[in-house]
Amino acid sequence: MKRDPADMLLFRPLTVHNLKLKNRLVMAPCGTNTASDEGFPTEAQVEYYRQRAEGGVGLVILEATTVNHHRRRRESNCLGIYEDRFIRPMRTLAKKVQDEGARVGVQLVDSLVRIGKKPADFSKEEVHGIIEDFVQGAVRAQQAGFDLVELHMAHLYTLADFLSRQTNRRTDEFGQGMAGRLRIAEEILGRARQQLGSDFTLGCRINGDEFVLGGNTLADSQVIAQRLVELGADVISVSAGGRMEADGSRGYSFSRCIPPSQMPDATNAYLAGEIRRVAGVPIMTAGKIGDPGVAEAVLQEGKADLIALGRPLLADPAFARKAQEGHWEEIRLCRFDNQCMAGILDGKPWTCVVYQDQ
Ligand SMILES: Cc1cc2nc3c(=O)[nH]c(=O)nc-3n(C[C@H](O)[C@H](O)[C@H](O)COP(=O)(O)O)c2cc1C
Repeated sequence: MKRDPADMLLFRPLTVHNLKLKNRLVMAPCGTNTASDEGFPTEAQVEYYRQRAEGGVGLVILEATTVNHHRRRRESNCLGIYEDRFIRPMRTLAKKVQDEGARVGVQLVDSLVRIGKKPADFSKEEVHGIIEDFVQGAVRAQQAGFDLVELHMAHLYTLADFLSRQTNRRTDEFGQGMAGRLRIAEEILGRARQQLGSDFTLGCRINGDEFVLGGNTLADSQVIAQRLVELGADVISVSAGGRMEADGSRGYSFSRCIPPSQMPDATNAYLAGEIRRVAGVPIMTAGKIGDPGVAEAVLQEGKADLIALGRPLLADPAFARKAQEGHWEEIRLCRFDNQCMAGILDGKPWTCVVYQDQ
């Protein structure tokens, strides 16, 4: 139901640690496959992010950006921040977003899936190498002027593999029970905080539930979130699923991550709400929040503090501005048919049928 934007929580500012956000709408990290072969931002990619910042969201979080060249995500042309030579081009990208009045974060990722490995396949020294990759990536992001760094601990990636009771079969201090599975996150957050200073805003994206047999449940995720906050996370983004199953990325777990049209609206908001009850920092949710009314209801019901939009911002970069100006009927709505995702998983540059039809 349409409401007066002036009365909506969605357009109230929020301070996350030291970061002042003008509203509660966030661009969720979404891989675009449009970086250069090495992972540098291309002109088209910079323009894509600038447009979405111009569209009125308070915070843009760049797509999963790799911290280690050898374990880049399996999709081609994903962004990188794995060497110092990325600092300057990433600074240009960050500034373009900030110049449009939005804050900008970058999501840091590493991918064991890319090389077909599991946590137990790595020596302790190699695990310390992964920790160092994340810390250096975070330092480069700060040097490039980003307002926030988000550590990708969800879906099918390395840190989720370590956190997961299903995939972490290590028998040393980086596995064996919840404390061991959290150890890599503990080291990264501790060292990153040391390097970045206490003012910098650090976030983690986790799965509220992995939706795989033998995987982490909401009860596990509540413990994980609480511990990450103790370790210095300023904001937790709660996603879900996205784990590899027997049928690769075509299983139920993936459909919880990127909910298709037959899933209920705000599919994963209840997970965010349960984590919000125990975490004590601002919580972000994403997943089939297709119009401003649904977004506002999630905030009103106390399930989240921030609403992240993935596909709805592919479909209409100006979603937030149109919502805030009360022109809801002008928003080009996502159909949640996931054609965008099929292309991305095939390694093709992002596309959106709704955006192209405009
Ligand atoms: C094309 C595409 C690429 C995505 N890439 C990422 C990513 O790089 N990192 C991430 O954490 N989530 C990624 N996601 C998940 C989104 O951030 C988001 O959580 C999900 O799409 C559900 O939100 P939505 O219904 O608003 O799209 C991606 C989703 C899509 C559709």
